[in-house]
Amino acid sequence: MDKLLIRGGRPLRGEIRISGAKNAALPELCAALLTPETMTLRNIPRLQDVATMLKLIRNMGATAEFSPDGTVVIESRELHFPEAPYEMVKTMRAAVLALGPLLARFGEATVSLPGGCAIGARPVDQHIKGLEKMGAEIVIEHGYMIAKLPKGWTRLKGANIRTDMITVTGTENFMMAAALAEGETVLENAAMEPEITDLGEMLNAMGAKVTGHGTSEIRIQGVEKLHGATHKVVSDRIECGTFLCAVAATGGDVLLKDGRAEHLEAVIDLLKAAGAEVQAVEGGIRVRSEGRLEAQSFKTTEYPGFPTDMQAQFMALNCIAEGDSKITETIFENRFMHVSELMRMGARIDVDGKVAITHGVERLSGAIVMATDLRASASLVIAGLVADGETMVDRIYHLDRGYEQMEAKLRELGADIERVK
Ligand code: EPZ
Repeated sequence: MDKLLIRGGRPLRGEIRISGAKNAALPELCAALLTPETMTLRNIPRLQDVATMLKLIRNMGATAEFSPDGTVVIESRELHFPEAPYEMVKTMRAAVLALGPLLARFGEATVSLPGGCAIGARPVDQHIKGLEKMGAEIVIEHGYMIAKLPKGWTRLKGANIRTDMITVTGTENFMMAAALAEGETVLENAAMEPEITDLGEMLNAMGAKVTGHGTSEIRIQGVEKLHGATHKVVSDRIECGTFLCAVAATGGDVLLKDGRAEHLEAVIDLLKAAGAEVQAVEGGIRVRSEGRLEAQSFKTTEYPGFPTDMQAQFMALNCIAEGDSKITETIFENRFMHVSELMRMGARIDVDGKVAITHGVERLSGAIVMATDLRASASLVIAGLVADGETMVDRIYHLDRGYEQMEAKLRELGADIERVK
């Protein structure tokens, strides 16, 4: 099991490129199944979750070539196994995104229910309810969702869908299912993340008729078929935000190429309030920081609010900042597992349900800590970069799920970090 060994105390300087967004690549790899024609996706990041999704697609009978420059070419003419088996879904909840495309293209889909994961139960009841509104008949047997069209139907039917809460992958499943449905679908409380906007752009490049993507109301006029296209995946705002927090914490001066400041307004506003300098520049974002920052309180909410996927990283920054902060996690029920690990490094944090209070300390001290989930791992890396002495982050397979070559990028910026077996 790989570990990361970090010797803290160095500022970060230089420039790195932000990779393509994991949370855009995963739905877009599934969207490629909506057409039998060749799909070319560029700027796909080399991540464990992407490898899992490619394995899933190949298992269905599609071919998918992943070249070193980050281009994936998918042919799904011979898709003959519209299934997402448990052993592939259990490690990656995003496999639920196969449901919409398989139903839309083949009229049937058998997708394993995702188990829970470290940060919460992660139910998919909203996905099921929305697809049932479009006519799908879905039964749950032996841990699988078995979906098919009613007798005599050849396509799903457009519907008005309002989910009980805003759901990112739910919105994405409905967009993909609706693209080939008969008639119009209106998503009334759609998620507005940049990855949703990017998926809408890709579907339209394939001949779909999607409008309103990026707002809370998305309209999709179903079409008979979609054709092949080329699409470049949007850059990863969470990877970018993670590096912004790292530089803010360690001090330094870094250019994040391909970073999109307009996708990180809530995070950037908070970093500026803390005392870091963050500005959009030609082709990226420049971040500078020196001296101690001031802790900032925040509440995670759906986009464009402060993203839950940035909560752990900003908490690490607050732990060594001046003063106290109140952090409220409103999206997931168990997303404070990094707290006990940060406290092993000397952080002072009090958790009460969905609220964590941090009390800033001058220094953290390096320790052996354990990653528990993807963004918690990133939080521990940031803490290790600023702590006195050595930090060993264990179980970094969590990190590898969502960050492309994080230690190489950090070394590029002058960090003393290495991967050990
Ligand atoms: C997406 O997960 C992201 N994953 C998550 O990123 C991200 O944290 C999350 O959105 C919130 O922004 C991908 O895009 C692959 P939701 P998703 O459906 O779609 C509840 C990361 O670190 N809910 O928006 O699974 C759910 O339990 C990952 O990259 C239901 O109750 O999240 C949660 O409390 C972690 N029933 C809330 O809604 C449902 O059917 C939001 O979940 C669906 C969701």
